[in-house]
Amino acid sequence: MGFNIAIDGPAGAGKSTVAKAVAQKLGFIYVDTGAMYRALALFFIRRHIDAGESEKIKELLDQIQVSLDYDDSGVQQVFLNKENVTSQLRREEVGKMASAISAYPFVREKLLGLQRSLAQNSDVIMDGRDIGTNILPDAPLKIYLTASVEARAKRRYDELCEKGEKASLETVALDIRQRDESDMTRAIAPLRQAEDAVYLDTSDLDIPQVIQSIMNLYEKAN
Ligand code: C5P
Repeated sequence: MGFNIAIDGPAGAGKSTVAKAVAQKLGFIYVDTGAMYRALALFFIRRHIDAGESEKIKELLDQIQVSLDYDDSGVQQVFLNKENVTSQLRREEVGKMASAISAYPFVREKLLGLQRSLAQNSDVIMDGRDIGTNILPDAPLKIYLTASVEARAKRRYDELCEKGEKASLETVALDIRQRDESDMTRAIAPLRQAEDAVYLDTSDLDIPQVIQSIMNLYEKAN
């Protein structure tokens, strides 16, 4: 059994950036579970299946295999039926579809075994929405990483501007609010802070400060 760090929190809180950095410092494997949902989402988008077509989605799940591997620099690569789809997963459309289909219990069930087995075999820092509450309830360190809607929207907006993509701060904030709403209110495995998770609000912290806070928590928990 490896040492497990569970990080949950809403979209745009900076989970993946800090989890990646902490994993590198500790020599842990970083597992981005959102990317697994995104890989499933990509499959359905390619088939022009709507998120509301639950029966079709349920039926087709058997035809999908999601697996992970790590490149030489330790960066997670996601495979959809053996095709490396990592570079296609960050698109907005894919995130929206991932959020919609992740509300189906059979979709969550599909990924649960893979997520748990990764944590069983290695030291991992795993991020998502239900890691501390559902996937790794016994993780010795759980963190609920969040930030105000305004702070998250500003970060996302700056990121898009840097990439040269057109966006308005209002639209980005609205998207974030909608994603929060659907992730927090779904019936199965909604996003919420585990009782034994440490609440970390990053609104006024920069990335190195968040990384340092997590390193300190790890020292204490270890
Ligand atoms: O974290 P990321 O934005 O890549 O996740 C995409 C979507 O996948 C989230 O909005 C959420 O609905 C879903 N998700 C989930 N459980 C996880 C990780 C992601 O439901 N453990």
